[in-house]
Amino acid sequence: MKPSIVLLNASERKYGCSSQLLHVAAEGVRDAQGKFEIVHLSDHTIKPCSGCASDVEKFCKYPCLIEDDDFNAIASKLIEAQGFVVATPVYWYAPNGVLKNFIDRLTSLENMIDHVGKSLLEGKVAGFIAAGSDSGVMMAISYMVVAFNSMGVHIVPWSMAYTHSQDPTEDVQAMMDAYNVGLLVTKIARILMKNEPVGYESNVDLERLKRKVERIKREFDGQRALRMNKFKLSQ
Ligand SMILES: Cc1cc2nc3c(=O)[nH]c(=O)nc-3n(C[C@H](O)[C@H](O)[C@H](O)COP(=O)(O)O)c2cc1C
Repeated sequence: MKPSIVLLNASERKYGCSSQLLHVAAEGVRDAQGKFEIVHLSDHTIKPCSGCASDVEKFCKYPCLIEDDDFNAIASKLIEAQGFVVATPVYWYAPNGVLKNFIDRLTSLENMIDHVGKSLLEGKVAGFIAAGSDSGVMMAISYMVVAFNSMGVHIVPWSMAYTHSQDPTEDVQAMMDAYNVGLLVTKIARILMKNEPVGYESNVDLERLKRKVERIKREFDGQRALRMNKFKLSQ
């Protein structure tokens, strides 16, 4: 089975730099024998998160309770897929607003930990693209890496491509990186498809871990005493 990869474009400008680099990533997906679908968030309505989880954690679940927009339909594509590449314009040192709203709404997938014991994004594979004109691309990318990783997503090696150019074809590094983001997301997705799922383990013997730390702390006390003695002697 071919890995299926969603290519998510957050820019309103379907012809813009984020979209251009996403199309380069698509070539990487193709060359790694994956299949892909490009989703432009601008074709859809994504309302802001209404914060159910902050009322009662369990209220937040997938499908998201906001049903009169397109979030659940796009989220279902992510659930079906093995991986995704997210491309965003940099707006004020961050992903743009519609992507931030989309990520907030993904809490409904992540919060399934409380309902089925696992985030619905756990085990997915992701890479990122950001387009800016001066500074902030790394802040936008770092934000996406942290947010998606905290939802259980595997972040691939060489997971990021970015440009400051208004013509990405002149930015050789960005083109190479975007191609590799698509290629590596697909290759890693294929590897993971063949293996048993790797996920967060909640069934942990905490008492054993506490005993281990107590043992280590006693060792540390000895080390601290030795250093204190050394300082005293050198004074
Ligand atoms: C509201 C707004 C805020 C922006 N803020 C930043 C910024 O903080 N840093 C930056 O490098 N570029 C910023 N830009 C420039 C865009 O990131 C840049 O034009 C980018 O190419 C747009 O992506 P797109 O071509 O995919 O639409 C901003 C543009 C807009 C419209």
